[in-house]
Amino acid sequence: MAGQRKYSHIARTYDILDLPFEYLRYRPLRPTIWSGLDECCRILDAGIGTGRNMDYYPAGVEMVGLDLSPAMLARAAVRRRKTGTAVHLVEGNIIATPFADDTFDAVVSTFLFCVLPPDLQLPALRELARICKPEGEIRILEYAISANPIRRAVMKLWAPWIRFAYGAAFDRETEQYLATTGLQLVARRFLHADTIKLLVARQPLVPAPSDSDL
Ligand SMILES: C[S@@+](CC[C@H](N)C(=O)[O-])C[C@H]1O[C@@H](n2cnc3c(N)ncnc32)[C@H](O)[C@@H]1O
Repeated sequence: MAGQRKYSHIARTYDILDLPFEYLRYRPLRPTIWSGLDECCRILDAGIGTGRNMDYYPAGVEMVGLDLSPAMLARAAVRRRKTGTAVHLVEGNIIATPFADDTFDAVVSTFLFCVLPPDLQLPALRELARICKPEGEIRILEYAISANPIRRAVMKLWAPWIRFAYGAAFDRETEQYLATTGLQLVARRFLHADTIKLLVARQPLVPAPSDSDL
């Protein structure tokens, strides 16, 4: 599998390669992604990578981290030990996870969908919808290509490197697939300029029966 091969090659250097982005851009955003999930019992960090979200997991919640790459999971295991984070690490593909229906109270993925090729976007969203409880939130942090001409041009210059280094793209159309999955987009917010956005989706609420329905 291309994604697995890519990440098995870069796992050892991933944190160093990504360091400037992590400190200058991602780290300030991560607390927002995890905020308000303290009431959950069980949360999935989908595409956990080297475990960069670990510092922000809500306290007292049973955490599970899934990743396709054993090499990235090995780095996550090192971070788990160093930080004393309680997280169960699972090797698996996000399009066919080993979890039963409605396993999680919330599912969070940061920079996973930008790595998934277009043909995997829909199956991955369907899988998240299956394993997340109907009332649970699915939070997806992703890149978007900027509408600002200068920023857009810079992103286009970077794009070949991003594809080569991470197998990622800035212009995945994850949001467009949500309706097809039956998921409802409940929030959409840019957290960095107009280039990193948080999508929050969930199953549509089934209206309570009115008196006339009974
Ligand atoms: C760009 S990294 C993001 C890591 C982490 N979430 C973060 O915010 O730093 C993407 C991760 O997704 C994983 N990945 C790629 N394809 C996957 C798939 N089909 N199923 C599960 N994980 C996958 C990669 O192995 C990699 O660890």
